[in-house]
Amino acid sequence: MDKQALETIAQNMVATGKGILAADESSGTIKKRFDTITVESTETNRRDYREMLFSTQDAMANYISGVILFDETIRQQAENGTGLVDIIQNMGCLPGIKVDTGAKDFANHDGEKVTEGLDGLRERLQEYVTLGAKFAKWRAVINIANNDLPTRSCLIANTHALARYAGLCQENGLVPIVEPEVIMDGDHTIERCFEVTAAVLQMLYATLKEQRVHLEGTILKPNMVLSGTQNPNQAGIEQVAEMTLDCLTANVPQTVPGIVFLSGGQSDIDATAHLDAINRLAKARGKTSWKLSFSYGRALQAPVLQTWGGKAENRQAAQDAFTHRAKMNGLATLGQWQGG
Ligand code: 13P
Repeated sequence: MDKQALETIAQNMVATGKGILAADESSGTIKKRFDTITVESTETNRRDYREMLFSTQDAMANYISGVILFDETIRQQAENGTGLVDIIQNMGCLPGIKVDTGAKDFANHDGEKVTEGLDGLRERLQEYVTLGAKFAKWRAVINIANNDLPTRSCLIANTHALARYAGLCQENGLVPIVEPEVIMDGDHTIERCFEVTAAVLQMLYATLKEQRVHLEGTILKPNMVLSGTQNPNQAGIEQVAEMTLDCLTANVPQTVPGIVFLSGGQSDIDATAHLDAINRLAKARGKTSWKLSFSYGRALQAPVLQTWGGKAENRQAAQDAFTHRAKMNGLATLGQWQGG
């Protein structure tokens, strides 16, 4: 394992004022996104949409450190024949790749998922390195339901897989983004989300250490600590920032260089406001060493998709929408967002 090279990549993924564009929607998920703007999910439309995103000079050069791609995208060429990976690199950004094969029903555990994709992973990672990838992503899904879910066995299965994946990534020179997503759906309180997120992070770091993963060469991609979406009592921005930072401070080793939040279904403005408040609070407390940034999918892309609508004539306006959202989130990583 080349620890120094991994650490350099990890630090570049959380370069000051920048964050990650999650554009790794699987075929099923991108179809759902395109359905909302009544665009057919053809290979060409997916290519055109992503080419438009990655060619946005202002956003990519100034506010984005890296892009997570799906298997199809890392192999795709722009209309003029340039590889989409080359477009990303020419903007000064790092290409990354989603390598899990999805969250599947966990046997004997109604309502729970376990993420698959370990079989053959070493060989797939080696190929992705030749295609230009510098980092990878694996997402585990943890559901909250009453006091029953998640089960301890669900946490064991998912954190074990995350650690197996992380070790294989580092063996092959890729920085693993380790993503245990506690899902925000449900009527649970923010306190319950805190408790579950803390349990997940504790088990995750115990397992990563046990499997000898080099934490300085990893990035954590967690959920924020939020009230369940169906809970009528929604915690405000300051409470979310405090409970998220408390949870991370207590459970994430300071040797981890960066924490990049997922948006998880929050609105674009909420995701920016929460990130900004978390960074303001972290600065005021001055106790943590990790960078706190974003790896947003929906919260970066929702306004872009709406503006684009699948029409070539909307390309510039969609790129402007992307630059705006990327800039707002870049400011939020500095705790300097003023709204918008
Ligand atoms: P969202 O920000 O839309 O949650 O997507 C981020 C991601 O990559 C989930 O795996």
